[in-house]
Amino acid sequence: MSGTRSIKRDIELRILLIWLIVMPTCALFIYFHGLKISYFFRPLWDKPPKPFRYIPHFYAENVSMEHLCKMHGWKIRDNPRNVFDAILFSNELDLLAIRWHELNPVVTTFVILESNTTFTGLPKPLNFAINRKKFAFAEAKVKYGTATGWPLSNGQSPFVEEAYQRVVLDRLLKEAGVSKDDLVIMADVDEIPSAHTINLLRWCDNIPPIMHLQLRNYMYSFEFFVDYDSWRSQIHVYMPGKTNYGHFRRADEIFADAGWHCSFCFRYINDFIFKMKSYSHVDRVKFSYFLDPSRIQNIICSGANLFDMLPEEYSFQQIIAKMGSLPHFFSAVHLPSYLISHADNFKYLLPGGCVRESE
Ligand SMILES: *[C@@H]1O[C@H](CO)[C@@H](O)[C@H](O)[C@H]1NC(C)=O
Ligand SMILES: *[C@@H]1O[C@H](CO)[C@@H](O)[C@H](O)[C@H]1NC(C)=O
Repeated sequence: MSGTRSIKRDIELRILLIWLIVMPTCALFIYFHGLKISYFFRPLWDKPPKPFRYIPHFYAENVSMEHLCKMHGWKIRDNPRNVFDAILFSNELDLLAIRWHELNPVVTTFVILESNTTFTGLPKPLNFAINRKKFAFAEAKVKYGTATGWPLSNGQSPFVEEAYQRVVLDRLLKEAGVSKDDLVIMADVDEIPSAHTINLLRWCDNIPPIMHLQLRNYMYSFEFFVDYDSWRSQIHVYMPGKTNYGHFRRADEIFADAGWHCSFCFRYINDFIFKMKSYSHVDRVKFSYFLDPSRIQNIICSGANLFDMLPEEYSFQQIIAKMGSLPHFFSAVHLPSYLISHADNFKYLLPGGCVRESE
């Protein structure tokens, strides 16, 4: 009798012990990997947006514009449209140089707005103003403006500051003289349309009034190709009183393979740290060791994730397919021409160059 009771108590004790171990382990696991878990189950709580309608894109060197316009079902114009490239700038000086050299032959005006704070409200120098001399090649086309940021109050989202800067950019675009039927590129600095894409769109009539641009996604450099899913950049045929600046879904049409999107493509480790702190998704920096320079360097060279996140996808199949590090990519074909012609200066952006300078 007493033997059975002691066995029973033994079992109860063991169950209790197991719970004492299992529960805190689970709690710790959820604490450390909470975002991961919620992203893994994203297919259950989130629906994919309405799919885009892809506009096929035809291009080869040395084919006449008339022929290219016709292949897209458009008509060639007598004169090309004016093109305004409008961006918010933070500190991406190298990508800005690559962007402006790529687009210089096809753009009429470079509209660039810079705030004296980051989206998260931290003070920042006016980096473009300080480095403006380096952009002398485009000076005659530059329309530069500054915005006044503010320190975020408790609980205020960085997206409020970002939205404000886009309203100011809209005003700057008008001051730059944009008018009916001009083309406006709305994109981040690191979303670079290819010159031949913009050339086609400025020379052809009857293009859709608003089109998203499908860009090739890269991470850290052109050594890590991610996918073809970059869609936020867009091009508008300007309509006075109707067109306004945005970086969200505006239309169902998307023009295929229209350029490059290089995320976190910085020269210095300090730039990564600055971006991680100033980013609208700053909540993703869960632990201070995320900002450790040697951790960041290892991640850049291995193609892993800076925020230890799972792929943001809508189906389990895609999440699993994209889990783990990005594969190395050995092609540097069909990249912005300034990047290739000045490769000595941009080694860190090309295959084999992942090690960053510490500044
Ligand atoms: C480009 O096209 C022109 C006229 O069609 C032709 O004469 C020339 O050889 C072509 N150049 C190249 C590099 O293919
Ligand atoms: C930003 O600029 C405005 C206007 O010049 C100024 O009042 C404000 O203090 C500046 N903010 C920072 C963080 O430098």
